[in-house]
This record gives sequence, C-alpha cells and structure tokens, in this order.
Amino acid sequence: MSHHYLHFEHVGYRYPNGHEALRDATFHITHGEKTALMGMNGAGKSTLLLLLAGLLLPTTGEAVVGGVRSTRRTLATIRRSAGMVFQNPDNQLFMPTVEEDVAFGPANMRLTPAEIEHRVTEALEAVGALHLRKQAPYHLSGGQKRSVAIATVLAMEPSVLLLDEPTSNLDPRARRQTIELLRRFDHTMLLATHDMEMAYELCPRTIVLHDGNIVADDRTQAIFRDTALLDACGLEAPASLRPQ
Ligand SMILES: Nc1ncnc2c1ncn2[C@@H]1O[C@H](COP(=O)(O)OP(=O)(O)O)[C@@H](O)[C@H]1O
Ligand SMILES: [Mg+2]
Repeated sequence: MSHHYLHFEHVGYRYPNGHEALRDATFHITHGEKTALMGMNGAGKSTLLLLLAGLLLPTTGEAVVGGVRSTRRTLATIRRSAGMVFQNPDNQLFMPTVEEDVAFGPANMRLTPAEIEHRVTEALEAVGALHLRKQAPYHLSGGQKRSVAIATVLAMEPSVLLLDEPTSNLDPRARRQTIELLRRFDHTMLLATHDMEMAYELCPRTIVLHDGNIVADDRTQAIFRDTALLDACGLEAPASLRPQ
C-alpha cells in the first residue's frame, strides 16, 4: 500500500451539464500534511474537495482516499474517513440544537449513547464551543457557526479534514480564532481558500488551481514568491508576505 493518504492520478470531473470542472489532476498527500488549495472563483477548488470527500465520483482517472479507490461501491466508506467542512455552515447545521447537530454523525455510525456523548463533548471542547451545546445553531454568530460545523465533522473522527474556505464571511476576530483552532489540529488537512495569509500560516504546501487545471504544487513560500504565477491565476499575495 502507498504511504500517501490521498492519491489522485489523472483525475477529471465533468458536471452532468457537461462543464469540465477538473482536468487531469495528479497529486499525492501524505499523512499529517497540511495543504492549501488556491485559485480564483470557479477554479475547481470545491469540486476537488468534493471528489476527495467521496461526494463526487471522478469521471476519469483514479482517486484513492486512505487506501480506498473511489468507486460507486466505496463512496460511503470514503465519506466516513474524509470529513468535509462546507463553505457555508448553514449547509452543515440543521438540527434544533448544537449538540444534536454534533451527535448526528456519530448516531448514524450506530455508536452507543455513551460513545455519542463522549464524541459530542470532545468535539465541542476541541473547538471551544462546549458552552453552546444547548443553543439553536441559527442563533449563533458566523464564527460560532463555523466552529460548530467543524465540530460536527470532528465528531466523526475523520482521517482527513477538508475545509472549504473556512474563513470566508468571518469578521477579523472570528477569522483569527478559526486560524488558531486549525493550527492546533494535527489532522491531514486540505484547505481551499482565498485567504493567502491563512494558507501561509497553516500550510507548508500549496496547490494552485486555474480553470480546472493544477498549475502549481510547491512549498507555499515558493508559490508566494512567484508573482508571475500568482498574476496569471488572479491571485495576489498580501502586502505583508510579498518579497521585498
Ligand atoms: N453543480 C454544478 N454543475 C455545473 N457546473 C458546476 C457545478 N458546480 C460548480 N460548477 C462549475 O465548475 C467550475 C468549478 O467550480 P468550483 O469547484 O465550485 O470552483 P471554486 O470552488 O474554485 O470556486 C465552475 O466553473 C463552476 O461554475
Ligand atoms: Mg468553492
């Protein structure tokens, strides 16, 4: 078996309407690696995460997640090992209370009530949201919703965390708290983001997508120095990170 946790070989994805959102994507990610996925709107970041999460099936090529090749038959297995945090927490939270939302996944795994309670407490503690457990998700602030959405995924104890723009729509303080939270995780992590400062802080490696193609895969520092690449992909490094 490969020591790579995520393994993409020439993966392509075409939406049912015919739009080709990802083309010939090849990359490998090892256990514990933290990788940023960057690219402008429509570049294919979310599509790539959905393929990794077992929520879409490659139209061409081979996607292997945790040693399991993605096929119609194995999608359910992949969904259990890959935890996806969606861009909009409202798509992840739908129960009357926070604790019920976090318990939802573990309950589906047919764990005992005691195990479920343990998972809920641990996951909410990990994101600093234990005090919110009896609250209604729709009453929470944007930052609190984001934390609880992350907890719903942590409660499944995934082997890899896939985060789609985790700092979008957060005020500066909630954004900072989310970054600090993610910094503490030692999960294998793929982070789709426009937030180049966060990518720089959290991810030693960056994959750049442009128009459905992987156009760079390198150390984040090297990517940020490559102004020609960034320009071509519609990305701009924050002033604080630009080379002098
Ligand atoms: N359900 C869908 N059906 C058809 N096209 C889609 C669908 N979802 C996304 N796309 C298209 O696929 C491309 C990649 O989208 P996406 O992966 O969401 O990009 P990103 O997350 O980088 O903004 C875009 O052109 C988008 O319009
Ligand atoms: Mg997206």
